[in-house]
Amino acid sequence: MPLLPMHMLLREARAEGRCLAALECWDSTSVRAIAAAAVRTGAAVIFQASPAEYALPGGPEALRALLEWHVERTGISAALHLDHGMKLTEVEECVRAGFTSVMLDGSHFPYEENVRLTRETVEIAHDFDASVEGELGHVAGLEGDISVSEEDALQTDPDQAADFVAQTGLDCLAVAIGTVHGVYRGEPKINLERLEQIAARVDAPLVLHGGSGTPDDLVRECIRRGVAKINICTELQQAWLGGIEDSRKTNSISAPGRFYAPAFEALVQRIIEKIELFRSA
Ligand code: 13P
Repeated sequence: MPLLPMHMLLREARAEGRCLAALECWDSTSVRAIAAAAVRTGAAVIFQASPAEYALPGGPEALRALLEWHVERTGISAALHLDHGMKLTEVEECVRAGFTSVMLDGSHFPYEENVRLTRETVEIAHDFDASVEGELGHVAGLEGDISVSEEDALQTDPDQAADFVAQTGLDCLAVAIGTVHGVYRGEPKINLERLEQIAARVDAPLVLHGGSGTPDDLVRECIRRGVAKINICTELQQAWLGGIEDSRKTNSISAPGRFYAPAFEALVQRIIEKIELFRSA
């Protein structure tokens, strides 16, 4: 099965009230773990990488080739998405490399500039049959290389969201409703009312960044209100690094295969937990 345009998976998901896990990958092991979790659960998945992440296996083509190898051999339904692209040149290199979806994060710019950049992204990506995610409002925490403080985090305006989708022609919209990239400081406050207002004005599938650490009941409520893609990164890194720490305690010196095996399994299990959580909404 070839990689699928992300909007095909997301439109179907939103129409059926489902949500896909968008899972950060950065090397051959994380790619293999996501593929293994998709096989074990039978779920469609979104592999995603920021420029800093796809640089690790050797660039966007290297990541796509690695991933395609697993997708073709396992027959899973999957898309490959650029997460938090910051430049149009990154969008272009990813669609040329075979990514089936891209995000140009223009949310830090004034509104009109965000519209312009997202519209240009749509023009580039749609020529390659790739999907486009735009973001409106700021999700606090670390986005790619940019730090956004929680105080500065501006939530998405529902009317502006409708205008943004109409003006840009994007395929899915990331909204800011109180989730945080990375670890929450204090009690998560998710604005479900605002999410409902956005969902009532925007038909496109909605995306939630900062999925890690968001309480399960709130995740389910977000999915019931139209969120069709939730990004998970920090919890995957925690599972992976926790597994490595465990290996360091028990396997002082051993072959890499044995050393990494518990970390790989911890990562697969964390991904499966997220897939099952999203299914339980
Ligand atoms: P977390 O690190 O909070 O899971 O957020 C991931 C994300 O939104 C990537 O775009």
